[in-house]
Amino acid sequence: MNAITIDGPAASGKSTVGYQVGQRLDFLFFDTGIMYRAVAWAILDRGIDSADVEAVGRVAGQLPISVKAPGAGAQDGRQATIQIGELDVTWPIRSPRVDSIVSIVAANRLVRQELSRKQRGIGLEYGSGAAEKAGVVMVGRDIGTVVLPEAPLKIYLKAPLKERARRRFKELVERGNEADFAKVLDDMRLRDRIDSERAVAPLRPARDALQIRTEGASVLEVVEQILPLAVKHLGVVPSSPGKQDTTGDSDLSAGLA
Ligand code: DC
Repeated sequence: MNAITIDGPAASGKSTVGYQVGQRLDFLFFDTGIMYRAVAWAILDRGIDSADVEAVGRVAGQLPISVKAPGAGAQDGRQATIQIGELDVTWPIRSPRVDSIVSIVAANRLVRQELSRKQRGIGLEYGSGAAEKAGVVMVGRDIGTVVLPEAPLKIYLKAPLKERARRRFKELVERGNEADFAKVLDDMRLRDRIDSERAVAPLRPARDALQIRTEGASVLEVVEQILPLAVKHLGVVPSSPGKQDTTGDSDLSAGLA
């Protein structure tokens, strides 16, 4: 199976690193967090209480989420265009309002049941190499433990809370959101706690995951640690860093996480 799982807490570098690894291997990059975020955005939009387990679970079952390659017109730093029906929600699902409830939505057992089943389907399809990509890099919290436990390479990225909060703060400011560092730090501490203490599929490294620390590292350094592991565990051959990898030598704090 050509699948690499990357798990870790918020802003540990999963998306930035996973995207680059996907590019170098011609694998589909799939960030599962966007699905939880899309459900959180939809319940805010519809005025549904995040504590209403059944109602939130129904939204997860019915939401027409699609993920597409960014169109030529969307040169705003997005890795993909996320739509709910025809509506482009790529940036709204990253808002502080969504941040504040998404962990509660992700702890909902009905939501997890629905979304992990879909994610596993995508992982198996692309991991078989039979789809238009050579494999899949799937990123989240429980990919190595629950969604694709049979993946031959499992990575767990970690960085100290303060460093991760600094990255998130920078992203929010760069996107024009008003942000207060102390609040970002407190919110992230709380989200870490909800994600790792929930009853269903809590955040934790798979027993056989390789753990990599990302503080002080560039995106390229972390990617260059993972690619030899992909060669060893999957037998694939990476391409050289391409012209499209413009974030490759930047510090992780500059990218999406
Ligand atoms: O990685 P992120 O910040 O976009 O994730 C948003 C939320 O979804 C976060 O609370 C963790 C949760 N999540 C999860 O529980 N399982 C996943 N596979 C991916 C994300």
